[in-house]
Amino acid sequence: ANQKKKRVIAFSQCIGNDAWRQTMLEEMKRELSFNPDIEFLYRDAQGNNDVQIDQIRELTKAGIDLLIVSPNEAEPLTPIVDSVFQGKIPVIVTDRKTSSGQYNAYVGADNLAIGKLAGQYSQTILQGKGKIGLVTGLSGTSASIEREKGFMQSISAVSGMQVSAVIHGGWQKNTAYTEMRKHIAQMAQSDIIFTFNDQMAMGVKKALDEVELQKEIKIIGVDALPGPGNGLEQIMQGHMYASMLYPTGGTEAIRTALAIINNQQYRRENILATAVIDRTNAELLALQSQKIQQQQVDIDKRQEFITEQNRIYQNQKSVLNVLVVS
Ligand code: FRU
Repeated sequence: ANQKKKRVIAFSQCIGNDAWRQTMLEEMKRELSFNPDIEFLYRDAQGNNDVQIDQIRELTKAGIDLLIVSPNEAEPLTPIVDSVFQGKIPVIVTDRKTSSGQYNAYVGADNLAIGKLAGQYSQTILQGKGKIGLVTGLSGTSASIEREKGFMQSISAVSGMQVSAVIHGGWQKNTAYTEMRKHIAQMAQSDIIFTFNDQMAMGVKKALDEVELQKEIKIIGVDALPGPGNGLEQIMQGHMYASMLYPTGGTEAIRTALAIINNQQYRRENILATAVIDRTNAELLALQSQKIQQQQVDIDKRQEFITEQNRIYQNQKSVLNVLVVS
């Protein structure tokens, strides 16, 4: 028949199993549901650079029209992503970056700015004087590198602010917990512990609870994701002091992808807004996101209805065709 070939958007995700990235994927799928003529290929590298390289290679061979990629670590993923771009397949880099800047568009928040914001916020809380412990993400990840750089820039200007210790949590709750236990003596000197995501904040919290310190150490994270067990709730329950909002950008990534493959205008840098979330505004944000959630359920229902109507219509059309032909 004369069916038009579907265009293919591929998404290479560095690690798919956490709530933040599941939210990103949901956003993408919802945006894609409005564009049923697009085929979506999704690969989860489960935090492994080599697996991600192989998956990108495999996707490219399959004949895709555009690649969205969130690179696990910058350096190892740069050559393959560059080669896709040089092969004239449009590339959107999201959240984490490669090292070369060879892409059509970037979608994500500014991680340097997030680090600075966390630094400024800490200064305000400590009134310019105090010790801060850092828990970084995976060391080769651009998001971790940039958050650290931004944080250091903002506090190095203030003489009263010191870093008590830096430990590496690899973005994971368990790793953060284990490293905290190993380095508890230094980390316990902190007034604030800035963990580079909320998952690790939970590991830090667990370790601190177990050692029962005399003083209270304030934990600051990044992500502020709504939903059970996530950052927003941890702030409202008082387990975490604050978190820097880090939007997933799933919707924006798909919109940009569609603009590119439809030859429409798009921006190269799509920087998503961020903000400090603490007790003063966490509840408001949670309410807003609940509301959006409800509206999304509504949209999903309508979308299902339209798809079903479409299916019925197509069926009837083919029945009619058979009748006319015979
Ligand atoms: C999720 C995550 C987020 C973090 C981001 C950094 O996998 O670890 O928590 O903000 O990745 O790239």
